[in-house]
Amino acid sequence: MQFPIVRKRRLRRTETLRRMVRETKVSLDDLIAPLFVVPGKGLRNEIGSMPGQFQMSVDETAKECAGLFELGIPAVILFGIPESKDETGTEGIADSGIVQQAIRAIKKEVPGLCVITDVCLCEYTSHGHCGILRGKEVDNDATLEQLARMSVSHCAAGADMVAPSDMMDGRVAAIRAALDENNFEQVPIMSYAAKYASAFYGPFREAAESAPKFGDRRAYQMDPPNLLEALHEIELDEAEGADIIMVKPALAYLDVIRAARERSLLPLAAYSVSGEYSMIMNAASQGLIDGDRVMMETLTSIKRAGADLVLTYFARRVAENYRQEGRA
Ligand code: PBG
Repeated sequence: MQFPIVRKRRLRRTETLRRMVRETKVSLDDLIAPLFVVPGKGLRNEIGSMPGQFQMSVDETAKECAGLFELGIPAVILFGIPESKDETGTEGIADSGIVQQAIRAIKKEVPGLCVITDVCLCEYTSHGHCGILRGKEVDNDATLEQLARMSVSHCAAGADMVAPSDMMDGRVAAIRAALDENNFEQVPIMSYAAKYASAFYGPFREAAESAPKFGDRRAYQMDPPNLLEALHEIELDEAEGADIIMVKPALAYLDVIRAARERSLLPLAAYSVSGEYSMIMNAASQGLIDGDRVMMETLTSIKRAGADLVLTYFARRVAENYRQEGRA
């Protein structure tokens, strides 16, 4: 059967019809909002590289979380900017650390919100690398212990999930063992399984004050051209006990998301990173694109590629728009 019998335009004619046959939907249930926590009180400092995103003190973070949860966002992921940094990232594993404080405050204010923590040393080390150095190289196995301690410390403060983003080999197994030993066998691990050494993280490094002081992250994060390697990373993290796997960044890696979705039975998250956010925000503020539409088109593409969960700086904006449209 062909034209003029078949006319694909029939189902595109009205918004109601389009709504009925829409194959992919972005639900608030899928969204995780990243937040940056800084020391201090009453602080809400806009991040220059990421318009509309803020570094917030613990009290403001808890308020923000209450607002997000009320709007329908189920989860946040926390990044901490510590008071002081050192060679091994000591503040990252301290009970008095900034993320640990934030977790306690959030769980008190919004117990229902799922609080996920990013587990990585780069925000806490003086050199800005994601692990402990031996000479100019990141020592994989020495780093594992520190990541495990950080994970336990986040859980002791009340984290609902930990998300290692360092890309050390064997970290999921090391973290799982440490959590289990400390009676956190019920806390899931969302592993940044396929995390690429991407220039799209540029704006984040200002937000998290975590740029490496020398060199780059290419000796531990993945080489962007590689897909099979991503699938291998995912397979290894699954075998080590990951509960959710992640691909990061999202937009330039939709093929990786699709391939991961086809091979894995685990929930799949995609991180739409700072550069993806800032490009849209900047183009929109210059009047080059319709920011809200490009935001939804982008998030839809990530879902259509196969992601179940999306970490996105747009979480609040989507929720606010849905609320306004009476959709949630
Ligand atoms: C920490 C970490 C980074 C991001 C998430 N966790 C930065 C990096 O690896 O350099 C990037 C997030 C973003 O760009 O939005 N290792």
